[in-house]
Amino acid sequence: MKRSAPPVRKTLERVLSRAGAASRAEARRWIGMGRVRVNGKLIQTPDVWVDPDKDKVTIDGKPLRPAEKVYLLLYKPTGYVTTRRDPEGRPTVYDLVREAGAWVVPVGRLDLETSGLLIMTNDTEFGEQLTNPDWHVPKTYQAKCAGVLEDGQIERLRTGLLLNDGPTRPARVVRLRDGARHTFLEITLTEGRNRQVRRMVEAVGSKVLKLVRTAIGPIRIGDLRIGTFRPLTPGEIAELRPPKPRTAFKEQPAKRGSSRQDEQQSPGRIEGRGGPSRAR
Ligand code: URA
Repeated sequence: MKRSAPPVRKTLERVLSRAGAASRAEARRWIGMGRVRVNGKLIQTPDVWVDPDKDKVTIDGKPLRPAEKVYLLLYKPTGYVTTRRDPEGRPTVYDLVREAGAWVVPVGRLDLETSGLLIMTNDTEFGEQLTNPDWHVPKTYQAKCAGVLEDGQIERLRTGLLLNDGPTRPARVVRLRDGARHTFLEITLTEGRNRQVRRMVEAVGSKVLKLVRTAIGPIRIGDLRIGTFRPLTPGEIAELRPPKPRTAFKEQPAKRGSSRQDEQQSPGRIEGRGGPSRAR
């Protein structure tokens, strides 16, 4: 006998955020304000369980429709925070994507003083996949570091060093060039801890003076202008998703001409050099 799938229940605030209607904080506020009904009944507690496939959720009397998924690539300038609201009133990345006409949130963060690529989307599942530490999407940064770094310092960045929240994973670090009093590095990390590049560079006795994120996985700044955004292409979105788990393993006869290198060309591979040098 075929068993029917168990209902997928989620809290009301999550149903609203998953549908791209609002952030979870905003959804909680709307619910508290009495703007949301489930099956016609006014609900004012955000953690009520809802079956999004069966229950009829309305906001201000209008049915909640799953939003069209929107995926944007923003070139964040310095001086913008990635939080929704800033107690100090500084500009936020949300100000830069108003024209997108969709409720999108940043995937991960960039510091106030860091510029570069930031993905913004209303697809919360995609965002969670992308920030999942088990799915190591490489992120590439160009950093201007104080002083001329010695090879030994760069090697420590590469092999991993101990920060106050644990050891760092091996990183790809390329010396781009040295100035009289600076070294310019390209650093590719497969983890995304708070202020990680700055803290790593400090741990080897230097300081980041300028930081730009130039690539997320295979996606590079290209000719995107600072402060502007563009939609991600379907191909780019697919490249950023983790591969689907294989349900069954079937042994295949070895293909003629296949090589180890072919096998290693996964979508999340570490990029080669050659991105635009917008760091300075
Ligand atoms: N590492 C940092 O130090 N800052 C960022 O914004 C991103 C990575």
